[in-house]
Amino acid sequence: MPTVDQAEFTRTMAHVPTPVTVVTTVDAAGRRWGFTASSFSSLSLDPPLVLVCPAKTASCHDAFVSAGQFLVNVLAAGQKEIAGAFARSGADKFAGTPMEPCEFGLPGLAAATARIACTLHEVLDGGDHSILVGRVESVFLGGAEPLVYHNRRFTKPRTSVTLAATS
Ligand SMILES: Cc1cc2nc3c(=O)[nH]c(=O)nc-3n(C[C@H](O)[C@H](O)[C@H](O)COP(=O)(O)O)c2cc1C
Repeated sequence: MPTVDQAEFTRTMAHVPTPVTVVTTVDAAGRRWGFTASSFSSLSLDPPLVLVCPAKTASCHDAFVSAGQFLVNVLAAGQKEIAGAFARSGADKFAGTPMEPCEFGLPGLAAATARIACTLHEVLDGGDHSILVGRVESVFLGGAEPLVYHNRRFTKPRTSVTLAATS
């Protein structure tokens, strides 16, 4: 069995640009949970599915698995402080970040460039992470330039596009 060197794997994956999202949910007791995630991806058009992968060791992991719904907030280019805040374990991640109640009453980031509200479709095993497959129930597109994570830095797309209105 060929095994890949972990440092080489990490270095190689750092070369791949990813989106930066803050994924939120609320547990049965009404407590808000959230974490910064670059493992977000579109999965299927019919049915409309996306996926995001929380580490099994994350304190929010079980809340996401049992909540039954989650909200993906796609960060805009100017929101790297929010990405940092929601990647910090232990602190009150929601303090000081403007939030608004969104779909299913889930906490939404007021200035996110897009939001994708999901019901939990399936939880798959992904090694040291879980793969949360979400069925997309509603979407919101603000249209600001997205934040990108590349080579362990927050950056923005090299080219900007103007989104056509779809009304
Ligand atoms: C840009 C960036 C992307 C991240 N992506 C993920 C991810 O996809 N999955 C994950 O489990 N943690 C990811 N993290 C780390 C988590 O945000 C961090 O460990 C989180 O605070 C864990 O949640 P907890 O506070 O509930 O333990 C990422 C961190 C950063 C800065």
